[in-house]
Amino acid sequence: MSFVEYSELIQDGDIAIVYLGHESMMPIKVQHGAQTQTRYGAIRHSTDLIGRRYGSKITCSKGGWVHVLHPTPELWTVNLPHRTQILYTTDIATITMMLELKPGSIVCESGTGSGSLSHAILRTIAPTGHLHTVEFHQQRAEKATEEFREHRVDHLVTMRNQDVCKEGFGVTGIADAVFLDIPRPWEAVGHAKAALKKQAGRLCSFSPCIEQVQRTCEALTEQDFEEICTLEVLLRVHDVRAVTLPLPDFGSNHTSVICKITVPRREMAGHTGYLTFATKPRA
Ligand SMILES: C[S@@+](CC[C@H](N)C(=O)[O-])C[C@H]1O[C@@H](n2cnc3c(N)ncnc32)[C@H](O)[C@@H]1O
Repeated sequence: MSFVEYSELIQDGDIAIVYLGHESMMPIKVQHGAQTQTRYGAIRHSTDLIGRRYGSKITCSKGGWVHVLHPTPELWTVNLPHRTQILYTTDIATITMMLELKPGSIVCESGTGSGSLSHAILRTIAPTGHLHTVEFHQQRAEKATEEFREHRVDHLVTMRNQDVCKEGFGVTGIADAVFLDIPRPWEAVGHAKAALKKQAGRLCSFSPCIEQVQRTCEALTEQDFEEICTLEVLLRVHDVRAVTLPLPDFGSNHTSVICKITVPRREMAGHTGYLTFATKPRA
């Protein structure tokens, strides 16, 4: 198992996602001899998991069942232990597209936080790209390093435990893209420019407040970045419903017809943050 490569069979040492139904899930570390308790009873790793196919339906000791899923960055985002606020898949999808990330991309990121975005970046840039991630909080940097190793993506990432606003990303002139999720991104814009390749590159900064966006845009303009634009991504879910509509009386036996319509939900996830994008001009 690796977060960047699919494996058919569950193996000792894997991280697997136990899906309990109704969007309830939990990550587990598969270990010979270990047991995991669920509301449907125990899962015995040696007999119920190791050697079975990912996606299998597993019967627990009380007779209820769960599905065991291969980990993905999307599943990790909704299951990871939070050390900080994290980025969710709706924003991550837009960041990946607008930064033009692809296999082989070199990316700089700060802060690492809980590693939600880092895992998505790693899956996109594998197998030949590299992520340089900077986190100034020592325990968070250590925990993320441990998770990258457990998830078998550590060969694709370099962690630096330093202040990105003072010391930068630790690399110069190599990045295709830079991502900032820190409280004072404007203080890191100069370092971001230095990390990006001479022949252009893309930058994204995530900030919850519009005042942070204003200061970041000013810094981007001072550093001659181009194509500066800010987006807010709001996800509007539509439910499908069947409704009965009356038919005019044309003399047939049918007085109504059943149609399917879509209705937006009354409540939707609100503001997470603003995404500011910019392009470094060609030197
Ligand atoms: C909101 S979290 C990032 C969450 C991350 N994007 C994710 O999806 O999990 C912000 C992180 O930036 C780190 N940070 C803040 N200022 C920093 C700086 N100047 N240099 C390095 N890291 C910094 C914080 O310690 C925190 O862990």
